Amino acid sequence: MTFSRRVIDTPPYLFHLIDEKRKAAAQRGVDVISLAIGDPDRPTPDFILDLMQEEIHDPRNHVYPSYKGEPDFCESVAAWFEKRFSVQLDPKTDIMAIIGSKDAVSHLPFAFLDPGDSGLVTDPGYPVYNAAIGYAGGRVVRVPLREECGFLPDLSAIDPVEADRAKIMFVNYPNNPTSAVADESFFQELVEFAAKHDLVILSDNAYSEVYFEEADRPISIMKIPGAKNRAIEIHSFSKTFNMTGWRIGFVVGGKELINAFLTLKSNFDSGVFMAIQRVAARALGHPQVEPFFRERTALFKSRRDRIAAALTELGYRFQLPRASYYFWVRIPESYASSVEFCADLLEKKGLVVTPGVGYGPAGEAFFRISMTAPDQRIDEGLKRLREFHRSR
Ligand code: MLT
Repeated sequence: MTFSRRVIDTPPYLFHLIDEKRKAAAQRGVDVISLAIGDPDRPTPDFILDLMQEEIHDPRNHVYPSYKGEPDFCESVAAWFEKRFSVQLDPKTDIMAIIGSKDAVSHLPFAFLDPGDSGLVTDPGYPVYNAAIGYAGGRVVRVPLREECGFLPDLSAIDPVEADRAKIMFVNYPNNPTSAVADESFFQELVEFAAKHDLVILSDNAYSEVYFEEADRPISIMKIPGAKNRAIEIHSFSKTFNMTGWRIGFVVGGKELINAFLTLKSNFDSGVFMAIQRVAARALGHPQVEPFFRERTALFKSRRDRIAAALTELGYRFQLPRASYYFWVRIPESYASSVEFCADLLEKKGLVVTPGVGYGPAGEAFFRISMTAPDQRIDEGLKRLREFHRSR
């Protein structure tokens, strides 16, 4: 039996590996606390479940959906986009439904790369960016994110030969794993860079609605003149509405870019379950959205502040998250690698956090804490972290 080199050469998915370790520890009887994957612990809100009760019973929703996305879904996204980002999109051409953002991220490189082409990927970065380029037969060129640059890529430091050879660049602000946010001037510079080197920006905006202060409210790259023909932006309902298991999101961009992706995806799958699209379309404009967001923001702000206080007390170095669900923290100097630190924490205290190297070599000196566990488990996790330090 033979396997594709692409399968052999691609490491297993980071969170699959972590999950196996978590399960193995639980089977040994350890009371494991996972602050690893960013899967919201709160349930999908009731107003969305109520919409689903209606839509699931409608037999018209049980047939193949439109490949591009149902017209009412695309219209609802366009209305939301204009209200939220002050950007006008044409629902007929500029919007496409996707089976969650991971699905889009993993397939987008196939629409823009030929085997041997390269793609720029920020390092640290969401691991699917590298895997997707690799599976598409492409070559990954890593662009470091440094703390002193606010975890934004220094575009002027990218080798111009590599930039010219690249066909795509993945970026992700609010950033996973560093939780950095980008402002308009960064996106302006990025769009100019993409035009200069003739590449397509794949901007993953999955965390656009997870922020703590109005001043940090994330923006869309689509605000920048010319971006529509240079970028595809990826959005997700997973983190926004606690809907990770539902698998629904959307991509936006100019007609030509969306068409290229649609050609690819219509050959690969049959779109998003119509009932889910209808629920998502109705959810975006629902009056319960504002109160839900207010409550969610207050909850995560209080978690963020408690975790920050504990990390500061224990002498960890980190930047206070301004958006997303994550703390990106330097490992203690006594550890040689992020894997060693995370393994020790799991072994001694049953606490699971993510080793930074899982996001690329530039993450080696860091680990990531996700705030997506119930308050009581977070507090217990922080207690164990204090004990871990006392016993060292
Ligand atoms: C994360 O924890 O980085 C993400 O939730 C993982 C994912 O979306 O696949």
